[in-house]
Amino acid sequence: MSMKFYSSLTKKYVIALAGLFLMTFLLVHLAINLLLLFDDSRGLFNIAAHFMGTNPFIQIFQWVLFGGFAIHILIGIVLQIQNWMARPKQYARRNGAEESIFSRYMIYTGAIIFIFLVIHLTNFFIRKISGTVPEITSSDLAGMEDMGLLIVEKFKMGGYVLFYVIAFLFLGFHLDHAFQSAFQSLGLNHPKYTPFIKGLAHLVAIVLTVGFISIPIIIYFFK
Ligand code: HEM
Repeated sequence: MSMKFYSSLTKKYVIALAGLFLMTFLLVHLAINLLLLFDDSRGLFNIAAHFMGTNPFIQIFQWVLFGGFAIHILIGIVLQIQNWMARPKQYARRNGAEESIFSRYMIYTGAIIFIFLVIHLTNFFIRKISGTVPEITSSDLAGMEDMGLLIVEKFKMGGYVLFYVIAFLFLGFHLDHAFQSAFQSLGLNHPKYTPFIKGLAHLVAIVLTVGFISIPIIIYFFK
């Protein structure tokens, strides 16, 4: 076993941990966004968004989150390049386990999610930090940012809805593979538990995908 092999294992460890961390962010992000569907006044969502946008602990945590994205993406690119360069050797070895850890589509679905993320942050996050989110004018929340209104306005446009839904389908594909692959990279592979983990991986990927897709669709057609 060469040094290179060890360092690539370390990268797989780190990309797996960062990926699982990003997935917990997605679950929280989804839970907060779903509030928009259950409250037409958008009050619940706006209060949650306001808390997330002002709580000092979460402000610090946001940079940890961006760091998690950066590490995950950079290591993903490096691993993929190494994988491409090692391909002839891998064919010779026919090492199935090694290949399945790094599915050949992850880099492409990942790239699409990255493009989505840049557009998404421009739509919402940049608007927020530049202070151009509309304010609530009536009700006892007057003066608070109406981030919910920004989302509803965007998802009343068919093009946006289509773009988001397509991006979420790629996200679902990425997550479906990622979760079980992360467990494999962390060495948590076990004949008894692996089928359960695979089932859980599918479930989490489906819940996140269906959950995220439901938001633009329901807003477009029913709000
Ligand atoms: C319908 C689905 C989604 C909606 C409505 C939505 C909405 C938002 C909004 C309003 C913000 C700004 C929050 C604020 O700063 O107050 C935001 C931030 C963000 N979103 Fe989303 N989002 C969705 C899906 C996603 C997905 C699938 C991802 C990741 C792949 C994602 C990643 C992020 C990140 C990284 C931030 C910046 C961090 C933060 O502000 O906490 N979002 N999103």
